[in-house]
Amino acid sequence: MSQKSEYQTNIDEQIEGNRRFIETDTHRMSYHLMPPVGLLNDPNGLIYHEGIYHAFFQWNPFETAHGKKAWGHYTSKNLVDWSLAPVALAPDQWYDKNGCYSGSAIVHEGVMHLFYTGNVKDADDRRSSYQCLAISEDGITFEKKGPVLHLPEGYTAHFRDPKVWKDGDHWLMILGAQNAALKGEAVLARSSNLTDWEFLGPIAGSGMNGLGNFGYMWECPDLFNLDGKDVLIVCPQGLDATGEAYHNLYQAGYFAGDFDSTDYSYDHGEFQELDRGFDFYAPQTFTDDEGRRILIGWMGMTDDQEQNQPTIENNWLHALTIPRVLEMRNNQLVQHPIPELEQLRGERRYFSQLELEKDVAFREAIAPSSEILLEFTRPVENTFELEIRSGLKIIYDRRSFIVERNTFDGKTSEQRAFSLARLSDMQIFLDGSSVEIFVNGGEVVCSSRYFPQEKDDAIEIRGHMHFDLSLWKLEGST
Ligand code: FRU
Repeated sequence: MSQKSEYQTNIDEQIEGNRRFIETDTHRMSYHLMPPVGLLNDPNGLIYHEGIYHAFFQWNPFETAHGKKAWGHYTSKNLVDWSLAPVALAPDQWYDKNGCYSGSAIVHEGVMHLFYTGNVKDADDRRSSYQCLAISEDGITFEKKGPVLHLPEGYTAHFRDPKVWKDGDHWLMILGAQNAALKGEAVLARSSNLTDWEFLGPIAGSGMNGLGNFGYMWECPDLFNLDGKDVLIVCPQGLDATGEAYHNLYQAGYFAGDFDSTDYSYDHGEFQELDRGFDFYAPQTFTDDEGRRILIGWMGMTDDQEQNQPTIENNWLHALTIPRVLEMRNNQLVQHPIPELEQLRGERRYFSQLELEKDVAFREAIAPSSEILLEFTRPVENTFELEIRSGLKIIYDRRSFIVERNTFDGKTSEQRAFSLARLSDMQIFLDGSSVEIFVNGGEVVCSSRYFPQEKDDAIEIRGHMHFDLSLWKLEGST
């Protein structure tokens, strides 16, 4: 056994010291991944290997603020029960001393390879970035190999988040970048041995491929083929809100297109948001042994509001989304909650053919961790309102779908809204302080944190309509 590092000892002390705070915190989640202490952000290095799912994550174990990130590490055999492994990467080398930033994992010849961005700041707060490699035989302890790709000419040090995959007899890496003209791009590098990388250039970006001005930086790209389409997920920063679109500070979305790996060109359609809730960013995908393309996102956002979250009192902040299986349908990504979550379901409470009259509300007690399935049996023509634990409302009114929550400081409420021609069903996942709404079989998803009062354990439905309703308590163990 290798000796425990000082960094790991400090983390263990932090976790131990925080146990009493999280034990009594009703905002803790029961089936979502969250940090035992400190701040979590992006999912990293998602991979399925030898019967184990690995979910690494950006982690600052010592503060509920962004800073010198480590790679935390959860493992699971079933995507439902997770356990915390020792920290995988600590910011302890000259090339990553200010943070082991986001990246990805692949397995080659039985060895797990993590690619990540070493973030370095000098005394004047000037940034440098290095794309780094760490390897592991056992998937638990990692040996750092140092930088494998340096900053190419024509780019600022906002150059990060390598996602690596095999393409024929080469490996490709896609990165998020800011070019010297301060425009966001997704750029490629190529390698035949995983250690020597050749920079190829951008495949998409602000001002490229017919795209207008599209942000000053693109973070966390991911490129994969799904059902015959090449999907590029990216997180552009610097898009202005227009109409119904781009109301979060930064966006997470995708292009559907065709990637040509002979000349590395990418022909793509319009950018579409992946989620219409308040808190969704930096998603990453991977495939498992069944060939499913699974996505996990960060249910958070680096913005001013995050510092108002009530969990900060208990020294932890943020969570990941539930895993979702992706499907490509008519050039649009459809997201399905991973079916494994059905294992968490307790007894089903089923209300068949409910018919609500005007001004009569349907009220039912609900556990903080629950699944709600609402299937409309006639078209929803009038205003529909579902209020959950007094902290959240879902409204469908004149073809507009609205999610309303109390602001984190509890002083007022705020909304996200979008047009929706028809509402047929909603599958809703509630946990201690989160909601994920899969609308119309996952054609649209809204993910948000919200912080209900402890005493508000009921749902209330109002509106003149007909529906079937199923409720399950979800018994998780995270
Ligand atoms: C996205 C991001 C990444 C970066 C990481 C740092 O949320 O800013 O671009 O690698 O977080 O924690």
